[in-house]
Amino acid sequence: MTSKPKHFLSLADIPASELRAILDEAHARKAARQTAGKAWTKGRVDADAPLSGQTVALLFEKSSTRTRFSFDMGMRQLGGTSITATSADMQLGRGETIEDTAKVLSRFVDGIMLRANSHETLTALAHNADIPVINGLTDYNHPCQIMADLQTLEEQGRTLKDMSLTWVGDGNNVAMSFVNAAAKFGYRLVLSCPEGYQVRGQDVERARANGARIEIIQDPVKACAATDVVIADTWVSMGDADADQRMKDLADWQADDRLMKAAQDDALFLHCLPAHRGEEVSASVIDGPQSVVFDEAENRLHAQKAILTYCLNA
Ligand code: CP
Ligand code: NVA
Repeated sequence: MTSKPKHFLSLADIPASELRAILDEAHARKAARQTAGKAWTKGRVDADAPLSGQTVALLFEKSSTRTRFSFDMGMRQLGGTSITATSADMQLGRGETIEDTAKVLSRFVDGIMLRANSHETLTALAHNADIPVINGLTDYNHPCQIMADLQTLEEQGRTLKDMSLTWVGDGNNVAMSFVNAAAKFGYRLVLSCPEGYQVRGQDVERARANGARIEIIQDPVKACAATDVVIADTWVSMGDADADQRMKDLADWQADDRLMKAAQDDALFLHCLPAHRGEEVSASVIDGPQSVVFDEAENRLHAQKAILTYCLNA
């Protein structure tokens, strides 16, 4: 590949028009398969097989269910193939550098998806690869997840620029991607996080400078007042060491009936999963009528396919 590869590392780096096109592609690919109905098995290739002959490496430094299966099935549906490996399976786990790994894999495959402990590992991979690199979650952000979340809201008939989204709990990697996407899609984002768990201020300021409408309202009930979407995620992300302290500090930020009552009557509930009922979300909310978490999980597949075609068919 001679031109610069098209990476998907952060929603902050990708122009709004390109993100819009990715979301449109995700809707279109989902609709095409839904029209075909049950006659199409999940592994059947889309009619246009846009990634026929292409292979991506799916690399994991930490656990995954949705990201792993949606990327693998996504590549099959696009007519391509994937090779999955954990870092422990690779020489990466024995100290081979990420730079050398990038150069070697660039000779074998057409793209790389990485779930990394550290965002620096991801950026080092991208800087040294001749092929597109996709972020499958780092300690900093989770851009693929937010594309699926926004697809889920739109398929509920909602218009993103007219919506208020409220994040409650830990200002973690998933929250960061909502911050990074806010200026691109125009929604109002309210962040409700306890002291010590806020989203990094410099990223919020940068998003605001680019036109994002982001408000910090620490009180979770006030933050959810008349909101259109309540969003929660685990209080203990992969790599967090202080689980007991986090449970105490975040206890008042549980997404429960009290918060859904403060929100609009037709408010939706999002959670990227995996969820911990009784911790960051009550069972009544995540298993209740306003929750769209399993559509959200399914949409990882459709959004990922659109991201893969954006990166690999460039
Ligand atoms: N939401 C998400 O990324 O799930 P996995 O950790 O199972 O991939
Ligand atoms: N914030 C969570 C998301 C898991 C999909 C974590 O990083 O573990």
